[in-house]
Amino acid sequence: MQVAVFLLLQGDQSVAADIARGRAIATRWCSECHVTAPGQRLGSDNVPTFSEINKSKHFDEARLSAFLSAPRHSRMPDLSLTRAEIADLVAYIKSQRP
Ligand code: HEC
Repeated sequence: MQVAVFLLLQGDQSVAADIARGRAIATRWCSECHVTAPGQRLGSDNVPTFSEINKSKHFDEARLSAFLSAPRHSRMPDLSLTRAEIADLVAYIKSQRP
């Protein structure tokens, strides 16, 4: 038991990107406007889906991280994400099938 707790704490502190965490953040903070997963039916009009973003040549992982740390798009709010959240989101978006 103590070992399990120890491992959990270690996992929390890790900076490694986590796809599952990225999905949770996306559902909570992005799905209001974006279609963030294949099963989701409705986002806002004229907002790219995460699958489209994943396919876009403009967004390799570095550019996606840069965009998310400071969205310069008028219609896209700056959500003040932490670097860990951004890493998780990028991992999640990049895990989607094109
Ligand atoms: C309030 C609505 C809203 C929320 C919430 C939102 N977005 Fe967006 N996002 C937009 C809109 C609108 C655009 C399209 C901007 C444009 O083309 O003018 C966009 C565009 C983008 C783009 C692509 C920009 C481009 O130039 O193609 C990415 C990447 C993105 N959003 C990621 C995210 C992520 C990740 C989240 C959650 C952390 C998120 N967005 C939350 C509205 C939103």
